[in-house]
Amino acid sequence: MASGTPKDPIAENGHTAAAPADRRALAALLDFYLAAGVDTGIDELSYDAFAASEPAAAAAAASASSLPQMADPPFAAAAPAPAAGRPPLPGHAPQAAPRPPVAGTHQAVLPDDEAIVAARDAAHSAATLGDLKDILSRFEACNLRLTAKSLVFADGNPEADVMFIGEAPGREEDRQGVPFVGRSGQLLDRMLAAIGLDRTSAYITNVVPWRPPGNRTPSPQETEICKPFILRQIELVAPKVLVFLGGASAKALTGAPEGILRLRGKWLDMPLGSGRIRAMATLHPAYLLRTPAQKRYAWRDFLEIRAALDACAPAPTDGAPD
Ligand code: URA
Repeated sequence: MASGTPKDPIAENGHTAAAPADRRALAALLDFYLAAGVDTGIDELSYDAFAASEPAAAAAAASASSLPQMADPPFAAAAPAPAAGRPPLPGHAPQAAPRPPVAGTHQAVLPDDEAIVAARDAAHSAATLGDLKDILSRFEACNLRLTAKSLVFADGNPEADVMFIGEAPGREEDRQGVPFVGRSGQLLDRMLAAIGLDRTSAYITNVVPWRPPGNRTPSPQETEICKPFILRQIELVAPKVLVFLGGASAKALTGAPEGILRLRGKWLDMPLGSGRIRAMATLHPAYLLRTPAQKRYAWRDFLEIRAALDACAPAPTDGAPD
C-alpha cells in the first residue's frame, strides 16, 4: 500500500492545484454552464459572440432588402465580421484580435432569402440519399454545423414503408452520428417494437441534422435553411406513411398552427413533389419521458400507424394455384 499524502492528479498533470474552495467554486460554475446549455468547448478564451454576430446580422438585413445585388455562392461562409472582444479573464493575456467561433474557416452566418433558395437548389440536385448526405456534409449556411460534432443524417431502412421525423439530434446522437440513440431513442425503439417495427423496417431522421448547442430548440432560421433537405429526403425515401415525432417537426413540415396535443393522432394528406403522403403527428418520446401519463395517446397513434401500414401492405398470397 502506498504511504504519504495522496498525490493531486491536477498538480501531477503540470497544472497548479486549486485550493478546495476554488475547486468547489469551479465545479459550481461548470454545473451552472451545463444547466444553461453551455456544454461544448469551442475555444480556449471567451469572447462575446453576440457582439461578433451584430455586424453580420446588419449585413444580412441590408442584403435581404437588395437581393438582386447579392452574389454569395450557395455554400459560402460569410466574410469574417469584426467583433468587440470581452475584457480578458484574470490570468489571461488580452486577445490581440477576435477569433472565429471555431478553429477553421467558417464564420456564423444569418441565412437570407438567397441562402434559402440556394439550399433548395442544392437539395433538389440530389438524385440519391447518398448525394443528399454528401451535399449536406459540405453545406455551410447553417450555423448549427459550427458547434455540432457530427452530421446526423438518418438511420434505418430507406426502403421502409414508414418514415419517422424528429426535431434535431441531442448530445448522444451528435456523439454517435445516429438519430434517436439517447434516452428518447431507446423509448422510440420500444414504441416501434410494440407495433412490430424496428430499424430494419422503419426509417428515422430529423428536420435539422445538426445538434443545437445545449439541446436548445433550433431557431426559425436554422429550421428554414434545413427544410429543403428534409423535404428532399422524404421525396427520395418516398415512404407510404410519414410520422412527425413532436410538434416542432409537424409544424416545420406542415405549417400546421395547432399545438401537438390538438394535432396528434389525425391523418394529414401531405403534398410532396408530384404526389401526396399520409402523415400523422404524434407525441415526441422525450415528452413522453417527462409525462408518462400521455403514453396512452402515443399508443393510440401507433396503433393507427400500424393499421395504415397493414392497409398498404400487399395482400398475402396463400400459395394455392388459381
Ligand atoms: N430528439 C430528436 O428529436 N431527435 C433525435 O435524434 C434525438 C432526440
